[in-house]
Amino acid sequence: KMVQNENYQNVGSSIDKWEIPGGSLDFKTILGEGAFGIVWHAMLGNTHVACKVLKENATADEKRQLQQEIEIMKYVGSHPNIVSMIGCMTADGSYGPLLIVEYCSKGDLLSFLRTIYNNFANRFTLMQDTEVQVGKHDFSNKLYELVVDESENEFSLSHMDILSFARQISVGMNYLSSQKVLHRDLAARNILMCEGKRVKVSDFGLSRDVYTDSVYCKTTNGKLPVRWMALESLTHQIYTSQSDVWSFGILLWEIVSLGAIPYPGVETHDLLSLLMEGERMAKPHMCPDEIYSVMRSCWFESPNDRPTFSSLVAAFEALLTKET
Ligand code: ADE
Repeated sequence: KMVQNENYQNVGSSIDKWEIPGGSLDFKTILGEGAFGIVWHAMLGNTHVACKVLKENATADEKRQLQQEIEIMKYVGSHPNIVSMIGCMTADGSYGPLLIVEYCSKGDLLSFLRTIYNNFANRFTLMQDTEVQVGKHDFSNKLYELVVDESENEFSLSHMDILSFARQISVGMNYLSSQKVLHRDLAARNILMCEGKRVKVSDFGLSRDVYTDSVYCKTTNGKLPVRWMALESLTHQIYTSQSDVWSFGILLWEIVSLGAIPYPGVETHDLLSLLMEGERMAKPHMCPDEIYSVMRSCWFESPNDRPTFSSLVAAFEALLTKET
């Protein structure tokens, strides 16, 4: 049996049970392409998998980053709201390093949200009355009425779905933080979807094990997810589970705004001073007050004032039971 998800704690073992023999993968299509990595849809026997490989022009540092991601995924283990590792190829040569994870058939959450937005924006345009002068904000309101409906299908999004996504992601992140692992790149683009609107936290490319790395570590990589970063990460390169909570708040905003880019109309170089003055993103027009108050609490200046992932789980569970 090549797939051994349970054996992630083989620390110190010289025979790595995660290692997949070269040539056992059947590559299908490219799912995604980043700055230095490519994610392939592949078959491992009869199992659909996703494989992350480096591009040919990847630097030594990028290679180290993928190796790091592989080690962290081995350590994290399996959880229903974390994309689980299936195997890897670490041997240098034609294959390694290569990370094999479970395939999430519905793709990433950001694309899903934008599909919903576009479908309904089109429908709205079709039914638009010429007499009605539709301003930007009116449009958002109308859009929300149309989009966030209770019809149950694969490409609908109900208020319950929004709360369910928020709950599932906080459950996954609560598990990750209990393992003392920081994500550091929590965003809708890094959440993957499976059947039944189950969502999973993915992409540990920037993650760090807080036991082996200082929380003050700096990324040497110039590209930072600035719009998702906590104030203390921007000013002092401090990363903790509480800075992941800040990013979770931004992710919540992305969900409610159906895949918009955070801080619309704000230039990246103006962001820091804006945040330091205490400014935060406004409530999206379609956002219920109780969800906005959660995201605002994730953006408190002092990390200790923000909710923990475990209190976020409780908050969304309470909101979900209130709805039913
Ligand atoms: N895109 C990136 N990673 C993926 C995965 N594991 N499953 C499906 N699509 C993906």
